Amino acid sequence: MTIWVGTGWKMNKTLAQARDYAETLAAVEQERWAGIQPFILPPSTALAVVSAVLGPRSRVLVGAQNAHWADAGAWTGEVSVPQVADAGATIVEIGHSERRTFFAETDATVNLKVKATVRHGLTPLVCVGEPASVFAARGSVTYVLDEVRAALQGVNDVSSVVLAYEPIWAIGSGGREAEPADIADVFAAVQAEWGGSVQAVLFGGSVNLGNAVPILAVEGVDGLFVGRAAWDVDGFIELLDLVAAR
Ligand code: PGA
Repeated sequence: MTIWVGTGWKMNKTLAQARDYAETLAAVEQERWAGIQPFILPPSTALAVVSAVLGPRSRVLVGAQNAHWADAGAWTGEVSVPQVADAGATIVEIGHSERRTFFAETDATVNLKVKATVRHGLTPLVCVGEPASVFAARGSVTYVLDEVRAALQGVNDVSSVVLAYEPIWAIGSGGREAEPADIADVFAAVQAEWGGSVQAVLFGGSVNLGNAVPILAVEGVDGLFVGRAAWDVDGFIELLDLVAAR
């Protein structure tokens, strides 16, 4: 089974920093990551340069952190799926909690973006996850299943979809690292409902070198979606090597 290990850079890195990161990654002997699908999601400004540096034969996939559902038009400030594809993206991240919280992303817009991404033959990386209050009230499974169902509603073929379970309480510098026992029920439920049809179900939120292997050992975890711990390219390479050696 392929294990996905990737990082979203969020709103970080200049072009020079992005190029450095990609050059370091491109210089590594990537065959040692057999069985792993690495991916990086730069800001849209750096998509083209990162894709060009890695080149078409790299094992590392490149993706966008967001894209609009329309192919083109009067949507000031947005970029479309065909545009990010043109810049080298093969993955589109959709519905990260920061986008849902700060940019009014809803289940409905997430669903439109999943459909646009599938229509253009890219891989939707759909983020779902509950807030701390829902976790505390033991409502995580219902909340996450509802989000996944809403995201994938009416999508004819979900076989390219990658889901990322990212509980909001685990994300970012204010987050708390998840224990395997915190997330096992959600993975069991998501895999029971979607495991036979989607590509993979990843975990994200404060993943680092210390907790990556125990999290991957949770039944149903097909990979890791990492922020801070992989923003430095050495951190990403160490994480990939750790997963390859486990
Ligand atoms: P983090 O970010 O690893 O820095 O918590 C994860 C994410 O937001 O996807």
